[in-house]
Amino acid sequence: MPTEIEVELQAAVARRRNFAIISHPDAGKTTLTEKLLLYGGAIHEAGTVKARRAQRKATSDWMAMEQQRGISITSTVLQFEYRNCQINLLDTPGHQDFSEDTYRTLAAADNAVMLIDAAKGLETQTRKLFEVCRMRGLPIFTFVNKLDRPGREPLELLDEIEQELGLQTYAVNWPIGMGDRFKGVFDRHNQQIHLFERSAHGAREAKNTIVNLGEPRIEELLEQDLYYQLKEDIELIEGIGPELDLAQLHKGQITPVFFGSAMTNFGVQLFLDSFLDYALKPAARNSTAGEIDPTYPEFTGFVFKLQANMDPKHRDRVAFVRVCTGKFEKDMTVNHARSGKIVRLSRPQKLFAQDRESIDVAYPGDVIGLNNPGVFAIGDTIYNGKKLEYEGIPCFSPELFSYLKNPNPSKFKQFHKGVSELREEGAVQIMYSVDESKRDPILAAVGQLQFEVVQFRLLNEYGVETYLEALPYSLARWVAGGWDALKKAGRLFNTVTVKDNWGRPVLLFKNEWNMQQVVGDHPGLQLNSSAPVV
Ligand code: G4P
Repeated sequence: MPTEIEVELQAAVARRRNFAIISHPDAGKTTLTEKLLLYGGAIHEAGTVKARRAQRKATSDWMAMEQQRGISITSTVLQFEYRNCQINLLDTPGHQDFSEDTYRTLAAADNAVMLIDAAKGLETQTRKLFEVCRMRGLPIFTFVNKLDRPGREPLELLDEIEQELGLQTYAVNWPIGMGDRFKGVFDRHNQQIHLFERSAHGAREAKNTIVNLGEPRIEELLEQDLYYQLKEDIELIEGIGPELDLAQLHKGQITPVFFGSAMTNFGVQLFLDSFLDYALKPAARNSTAGEIDPTYPEFTGFVFKLQANMDPKHRDRVAFVRVCTGKFEKDMTVNHARSGKIVRLSRPQKLFAQDRESIDVAYPGDVIGLNNPGVFAIGDTIYNGKKLEYEGIPCFSPELFSYLKNPNPSKFKQFHKGVSELREEGAVQIMYSVDESKRDPILAAVGQLQFEVVQFRLLNEYGVETYLEALPYSLARWVAGGWDALKKAGRLFNTVTVKDNWGRPVLLFKNEWNMQQVVGDHPGLQLNSSAPVV
């Protein structure tokens, strides 16, 4: 007989779905998010998320940088109810200046939604984020957006996903027309045609007429050429590709593809309905004590993101924790695996588009924001019950490198304290030259914004003014087998070797081409694009 808490956990897990959206800037992530909230009943009129964002900008000093640049630095967690399920959307910052946090958020997600602009197809940031999803074996749902504009042929887009990402596709719905003549989508599973009416910028839910395939009135509702085209398309897609196998989806081997237009709401509800049916619920996770099921009755979780000074008045720090098992309760005490200390989890917060609400309980699949008095670092496990640690969050290949200089020798101590604390927190990676005469730390980041945040915080929190001296590299690879393997490989050209924070050798390259050259010339050398934090 399951215990009372196990029954409670089973019910909580069964109704939870958690995901992050991966996309390139401008593909429509904000718009889609807003429309999901609209259909989820969390907002009543689209436009409010953007409005909130503007309001937030006006009130937050720390986000002065954000305001200046018109970008969102902080990622948020959006929670809404739909069809009696609780959906947690982990928002990954989508600007060009994305950071390592964008990757880390995927460590807390159970599913990913890959959002693609129909006219542009796969773009760089999406590809990079996809690689992280693949590394984690995340189920990937694809939403092809902006069908209300002229775009590429649906089949061509499917082919691009298959060829470039090596990911099988299964079209769950199929667009009827495109651009001005985008009328709706065909739902393959129910063999139904959904015809939509446009509303002004899709502020309200789209009016939707559903017609079964073969019903004669379709010929009245849909122009003849579009109907014939659809019949042809259906025959074609039924003849190609595999069926949607949920086990394969859950291993990240096949992606269900949805076509639509977030702006006009076409296809959004169909997507949400299927997502609920197909998505992976919070599942077992690997730990030092083996696989831990979410219904394990003791509370456990891990930190995947730290945020400092979200509210300048309080100069506070928030640790974002993914709840993995058990039930979180406000003010509970837990073990902090890395330090062996007992920590009280005070001031838990749920984040809804930056409005902080206090929460009393949370279940597996949820994310909570905890007050961080400097105890937590990225990847830390907190637990009750038997001792365990979840697999840490790795360092991902930085793309920008810069010496960080402190021009004022009297600030030496503060400079080093600041750099070391910010590194530990995961704000940036720190590397060092192997040349002992070059002692300045090398900041290594995934996005330019991380540099700015580090400099801003060194000045504001440690009183140290710094400047950067850029290095001309754009790729880092860790050498498998460490220094011995590197020595064995002999002399390498077109690369420079540095040490990471743990003294491991890292090769920096100016571009992909240089890296491929080194790999080609040294078949015995194995290079990794990420490395564990030790
Ligand atoms: P992002 O968060 O991924 O960066 O993208 P965002 O939602 O901000 O959308 C980028 C632009 O694309 C916006 O236009 C948005 O309205 C538009 N867009 C999003 N989805 C669709 C769609 O389905 N169809 C069409 N035609 N456009 C779409 P903007 O001009 O930058 O902003 P706005 O003035 O419309 O707010």
